[in-house]
Amino acid sequence: LDNGLMRTPPMGWLAWERYRCDIDCEHDPKNCISENLFIDMADRLAEDGWRELGYVYVNIDDCWSSKERDKQGRLQADPKRFPGGIKKLARYLHDRGLKLGIYGDMGTLTCGGYPGTPLDKIELDAQTFAEWEVDMFKYDGCYSNATEQEQGYPLMSKALNATGRPIGYSCSWPAYQGGLPPKVNYTQLGQICNLWRNYGDIQDSWDSVLNIVNWFSENQNVLIPAAGPGRWNDPDMLIVGDFGLSMEQSRSQMALWAIMAAPLFMSNDLRTISSRARSILQNKMAISINQDPLGIQGRLILKEKSNIDVFWRPLSNNASALVFFSRRTDMPYRYQTSLAKLNYTTGSYKVFDVFTEETMKLKDSTDFVVSVNPTGVVMWYVSAPAKSNLRQFYNDGKR
Ligand code: GLA
Repeated sequence: LDNGLMRTPPMGWLAWERYRCDIDCEHDPKNCISENLFIDMADRLAEDGWRELGYVYVNIDDCWSSKERDKQGRLQADPKRFPGGIKKLARYLHDRGLKLGIYGDMGTLTCGGYPGTPLDKIELDAQTFAEWEVDMFKYDGCYSNATEQEQGYPLMSKALNATGRPIGYSCSWPAYQGGLPPKVNYTQLGQICNLWRNYGDIQDSWDSVLNIVNWFSENQNVLIPAAGPGRWNDPDMLIVGDFGLSMEQSRSQMALWAIMAAPLFMSNDLRTISSRARSILQNKMAISINQDPLGIQGRLILKEKSNIDVFWRPLSNNASALVFFSRRTDMPYRYQTSLAKLNYTTGSYKVFDVFTEETMKLKDSTDFVVSVNPTGVVMWYVSAPAKSNLRQFYNDGKR
């Protein structure tokens, strides 16, 4: 969507995967969906180095609202759990350089059973969100049919635009239509939405991550051309820092989401996250690969019989990223290849290992070995050495 927003994939935090529809603030005050949860996460984003890296959205998901609209028919936040109201929460975030996202649904009810935003409520709700100074809106699709969705998703895009407030627009539409043409029209989605969920919900497990990666890889020829500045495929939240992934698997999710130019919305507890998980999510090179200004989604270029997958993403400044991903479950696998075998043209390259931070120089024809741990990755940023360094480079090579 050409609204000037999200020219690189949006980054931030989203409540759903970790906190779901926990509304029991009496017994679970720290984790229930309430303004306190979002204030806590905002404080962490602002104080623990996240905001400076680009993680600026704090997104409310389902179960935030009251079960009834107000007397004027407007959506209202649950008064017990959001006593300050959404506008005050938005102000709190804005004062800290952060942005607020909110959630609604095309049907009569949200997936969690709260009031939806069907066709006749679209304009009113868009105006309400703008009045609250919301910065992003996720429009889910439960309890609506294909015909209503065809009308509703474009209508909401217009209604948000008409408010005059810049509001990033996340559409769950394709996920409700199987994610593939002919039912899904990615040209149209790129015109009306900033991002869209293509596939099922992520869960806190490696199984779930693998399932998502498989679907996105199998359908990459449809998905890659759909993505670009202002329009992104969304494989769903990062679960790094939760319970389901090992450290290897956490690096894999981060690496693969970066290669896929995916929105980076963490759904975790930033108050208690381990320093190891934090360092994966705060890896500057992985983030800068994800945020590359060309906005070209990467692709699976090789599936080896040895169960090593190689992903590649073209980047600005003639650079690129490579991910060697092991689907093995035995031991670190010594994968041997060369840049030439990975379609790199003749020349010499500088390689930066994203997670070990080691650098090395490589000629296209030289065979190398990467050791990839089970369910883990090796991720490289590959650049051509600057011309002025070439002499030095070749001299080094001779030694
Ligand atoms: C759907 C969406 C999820 C989440 C829930 C909320 O399942 O795909 O991302 O928003 O609804 O109920």
